[in-house]
Amino acid sequence: MIIFWLLFILFPKFAQSVTCPACPTDGILSEWTTNDDCEAPCGGCANLTYSRTCLSTDISASCTCKGPTTTSKPCNTQACNFPRANSPKPPCCDGSQPIVVNNWYHCGKVENLTPNSYCCPDGGVWGEWSVWVKGSGRLEYSRTRKCLSNGFKCKCEGEPKETINGCPCPPLSIDTSRCDDSTKISYNASRQENQYNPASCTATLILERSNFRGTFYKQDTVDNTQNMLTYIAYIENGKCQGTRFKAFDGMVILTNGLLDSIVFQCDIVTKMWNGLNPWVPKNMTNVTAAAQMVFI
Ligand SMILES: *[C@@H]1O[C@H](CO)[C@@H](O)[C@H](O)[C@H]1NC(C)=O
Ligand SMILES: *[C@@H]1O[C@H](CO)[C@@H](O)[C@H](O)[C@H]1NC(C)=O
Ligand SMILES: *[C@@H]1O[C@H](CO)[C@@H](O)[C@H](O)[C@H]1NC(C)=O
Ligand SMILES: *[C@@H]1O[C@H](CO)[C@@H](O)[C@H](O)[C@H]1NC(C)=O
Repeated sequence: MIIFWLLFILFPKFAQSVTCPACPTDGILSEWTTNDDCEAPCGGCANLTYSRTCLSTDISASCTCKGPTTTSKPCNTQACNFPRANSPKPPCCDGSQPIVVNNWYHCGKVENLTPNSYCCPDGGVWGEWSVWVKGSGRLEYSRTRKCLSNGFKCKCEGEPKETINGCPCPPLSIDTSRCDDSTKISYNASRQENQYNPASCTATLILERSNFRGTFYKQDTVDNTQNMLTYIAYIENGKCQGTRFKAFDGMVILTNGLLDSIVFQCDIVTKMWNGLNPWVPKNMTNVTAAAQMVFI
């Protein structure tokens, strides 16, 4: 449960000068939150411990916050009905009074806080973008962000929501040229780019099932002399990897132009391309490039 402390509302005063600092005097702190439950149902008759974090250091390391990051404040501050059901107690505890906040009677004292003097940062202060989520349209993906400086009456410039038509992941490259050092196999043999589907966030690596245009297949002399094998080169976690892929049974070199494929799926939260070589079997995760290899 998150309870936002409503009562002690800060009314900042804005300086007019253009040369005033963009960082508010006390930085920008989050709202007070707590995970605890209030022990009293109404009247602010119990306290809860709240905490808050400094948000402005995320925007600029030098924009540090002043003030405590934990506090104890009355909770369930909505005024109790008076007289209360089982006693004539007043509607508010601790000498606080019912005051109207957001069209409801709450118990509290309006604190006389010294107003902060600061100007709004240029363009306001945006929070981090959320992860991408698939929208309702076939190609639609969107993400959102919050204006952190809004609570300080500083408007943010720009949109709180971004919608794009197409997968937010970058296409899966076939550039596996960095793999060239490891073996005697020539990489980067794919004759076409991986087929990118922006609606489903998939990329299909096309594998040639025959030695029609290059030496894609060799007999598996290690595990099974009856299998023909091809190899896939891919960059995983920034490192070159290779995996064997079964082409077909039998030892005849085919030149019939048949194709095979491996579908990579991009996880829109982590933006990582992941695929499975079902034959080995082997997961390929966090892949940025994948291509069929050719033997020389
Ligand atoms: C809540 O805390 C305040 C100090 O912040 C204290 O004066 C008050 O007595 C406390 N109320 C209860 C019900 O513990
Ligand atoms: C490697 O891939 C790039 C990009 O498709 C291509 O331009 C280049 O010719 C390829 N190199 C070889 C040796 O096939
Ligand atoms: C994914 O790979 C990139 C390099 O391409 C690396 O910087 C990053 O840390 C990897 N992410 C994970 C979650 O392993
Ligand atoms: C591949 O990853 C999936 C999902 O994490 C897992 O269920 C499966 O066992 C993995 N397969 C292999 C061969 O590692």
